[in-house]
Amino acid sequence: MLFMKSQKVVIIGATSGMGRELARIYASRGSIVAATGRRQDLLYSLRMEFPNRIVTECFDVTGNSNIGHLESILGKIGGLDLFIVCAGIGIVSENLDREADRKTIDTNINGFAEMINWAFNYFVEHGGNGQIVNISSIASWRGNSWAPAYSASKAFQSVYLEGLHMKARKMKWGIVITDIQPGFVNTNMSQGNKRFWVASVEKAGRQIYRAIEAKRFRVFVTKRWRMIAWAMKWAPGFLYHRVG
Ligand SMILES: NC(=O)c1ccc[n+]([C@@H]2O[C@H](COP(=O)([O-])OP(=O)(O)OC[C@H]3O[C@@H](n4cnc5c(N)ncnc54)[C@H](OP(=O)(O)O)[C@@H]3O)[C@@H](O)[C@H]2O)c1
Repeated sequence: MLFMKSQKVVIIGATSGMGRELARIYASRGSIVAATGRRQDLLYSLRMEFPNRIVTECFDVTGNSNIGHLESILGKIGGLDLFIVCAGIGIVSENLDREADRKTIDTNINGFAEMINWAFNYFVEHGGNGQIVNISSIASWRGNSWAPAYSASKAFQSVYLEGLHMKARKMKWGIVITDIQPGFVNTNMSQGNKRFWVASVEKAGRQIYRAIEAKRFRVFVTKRWRMIAWAMKWAPGFLYHRVG
């Protein structure tokens, strides 16, 4: 065990994008951060930015040894206060490619559920306190034709988190659940022509950090995406099905 007192933060999927930005934010504010991902070189360069505050664990959330890796992280940082899942993929699948669907389901549903299930049970077994955060998406609100598995996987994530939020309240545990729903953020994942209201990674990171610290349940990043979520939720099928 390397560290004793600071807040202990685990970020699953911190090699790039929003996860990497959150790792920097938490490390620069004094937390001990365990950063994960599949790309060892990017984990190494992140660790070199904060060698006394960041430890790393290289693994694929679709693999068979997730629990072993999570336990290894606990051994390195000596506890857990905040568990953030940023690992996710978004594959455009205009021709409904079967392999794209399989990868999306393995990562965004099976990998996600295994991570979150482990963290929730960890907090229950260690006093019933802690916070779990996931980066879902505005896409969770309705189906879409360009990446059906992606929007379905994000719906799974947000609905699963709502269930855990209700479970924690019902059992009177102090476990806080935070469901982050970004619109477009300028990461590798979101490159393409039809983007609008694109937030920088830095701006998204700041808004996500503030939402986590305020212990919010559901937050749109950036804030104006709340309007799109509202429109998606209430648009009648005969209208939505022409554009989605
Ligand atoms: N960017 C947007 O516009 C946008 C909008 C809405 C929601 N989101 C969501 O935000 C989350 C973060 O994405 P991002 O935009 O920051 O993109 P990103 O830069 O591609 O980050 C994705 C992260 O997930 C990790 N990851 C992916 N598959 C993994 C696997 N099988 N095992 C372990 N780690 C894995 C990647 O690490 P490795 O590749 O090193 O494994 C990387 O660190 C995703 O869930 C995405 O769906 C993004």
